[in-house]
Amino acid sequence: MGLKKGVEVKQASGKLGVLLPGMGAVATTFIAGVEAVKRGLAVPIGSLCEMGTIRLGKRTDGKVPALRDYVSLAGLGDLCFGGWDIFPEDMFQAAGKAGVLERSLLDQLKAPLEALRPMPAVFEQAWVKKLSGTHLKKGANKMVLAEQLMADIQKFKKDNGCDRLVMVWCGSTEIYREPSDVHASLAVFENGLRDSDDNIAPSQVYAYAAIKLGVPFANGAPNMTVDVPALQELARNTKTPIAGKDFKTGQTLIKTVLAPMLKARMLGLEGWYSTNILGNRDGEVLDDPESFKSKEVSKLGALEHILQPEKYPELYKDFTHVVRINYYPPRGDNKEGWDNIDIRGWLGYPMQIKVNFLCRDSILAAPIVLDLALWMDFASRAGMAGIQEWLSFYFKSPMTQAGLYPEHDLFIQLMKLKNTLRYTRGDELITHLGAEYYD
Ligand SMILES: NC(=O)c1ccc[n+]([C@@H]2O[C@H](COP(=O)([O-])OP(=O)(O)OC[C@H]3O[C@@H](n4cnc5c(N)ncnc54)[C@H](O)[C@@H]3O)[C@@H](O)[C@H]2O)c1
Repeated sequence: MGLKKGVEVKQASGKLGVLLPGMGAVATTFIAGVEAVKRGLAVPIGSLCEMGTIRLGKRTDGKVPALRDYVSLAGLGDLCFGGWDIFPEDMFQAAGKAGVLERSLLDQLKAPLEALRPMPAVFEQAWVKKLSGTHLKKGANKMVLAEQLMADIQKFKKDNGCDRLVMVWCGSTEIYREPSDVHASLAVFENGLRDSDDNIAPSQVYAYAAIKLGVPFANGAPNMTVDVPALQELARNTKTPIAGKDFKTGQTLIKTVLAPMLKARMLGLEGWYSTNILGNRDGEVLDDPESFKSKEVSKLGALEHILQPEKYPELYKDFTHVVRINYYPPRGDNKEGWDNIDIRGWLGYPMQIKVNFLCRDSILAAPIVLDLALWMDFASRAGMAGIQEWLSFYFKSPMTQAGLYPEHDLFIQLMKLKNTLRYTRGDELITHLGAEYYD
């Protein structure tokens, strides 16, 4: 992670370019949202960077600055956007198609959205079976495609006068694959790019291009992308922050709040059945069993890690955990999730919890994209490189150093995030011990 105590962090001055491979529902909702906030049309609800605070010192000190005032972050006015998609529509058309935001709001943002057109994408249908695109790069092999992406990145930076860049993957979910031999080291991976190895996913070509140029890369999808030794080696070599994976937005957000509650009170779990209906393009992509498998694996991990059945066999051994996503077009982006949780209390008496979350997928995801862009840029300026575990807060399946289990509990993740910031400033960490008030 490269975390250093009391480190000198370069100030966020000049423009920050936010590059988005995949400019669909989440990306357009994010960009339109930032443009709306910049014009005073909306409040950035859901963004910790924009709305959060941090306590410093004792509870009696009354020192609770805004996060923004505590550490140097790029301002919304300093952000500029670019990206790639397999469809050529500009961001005004794409946002209209995504159907997340009201037409009346989009009409007010028409000028900045219309000006943004995706660059041609690196894509292979073998990795996203339900999509076939028209707006694609052509190249003799995957290394040539990576070089084209690097040229795009450098041109974007120059044309927009950016001081710094970050990349947040907002593209579709790729099919589930385990890392293979070609991912074992950077040298093998680079040969694999030149040989167009089938095991290298398009998202990995983007990640390679970004990390090679020192551009921080965050992965919003459940793809394995940077979860491989080769790209982690590259991130260490180029001192580039990486983070992932899969934005923690709806059902898993709830899960990582409720499961720690069960465990804190030593309540048992018999089973947790989670199902969703979703009608956007993401839902359509996830209707393919191989893409769904990526999502399923990403979603299933949280409960096992939080509940630790091996440590608490009487409470959590053999609980049933089922996750379903059903593609149901009438709902569009308005996902509905149901959770049925069968729990056991004192003397084994059964009880149930039911959660019905009528959420909006991209409305929950957009502020995460914003925060990740700002934090990844902060990490880069703070000299933090490689896996940014302190950003686990934002992910369904947080990346960790090999051999470490991920921390899923939302409030531990939040504490970790804020303590990381205190640490970089050289301030005292907050342990919540509280003994000093009673001495
Ligand atoms: N919205 C949420 O709550 C949420 C939560 C967690 C993860 N995600 C993930 O975020 C991603 C984006 O979600 P969305 O709702 O915006 O989906 P979307 O289908 O609206 O947008 C994805 C876009 O990526 C494009 N794309 C696919 N492959 C590409 C490639 N190789 N290069 C460039 N563009 C490519 C598609 O054409 C599409 O426009 C998905 O992977 C989704 O699983 C979303």
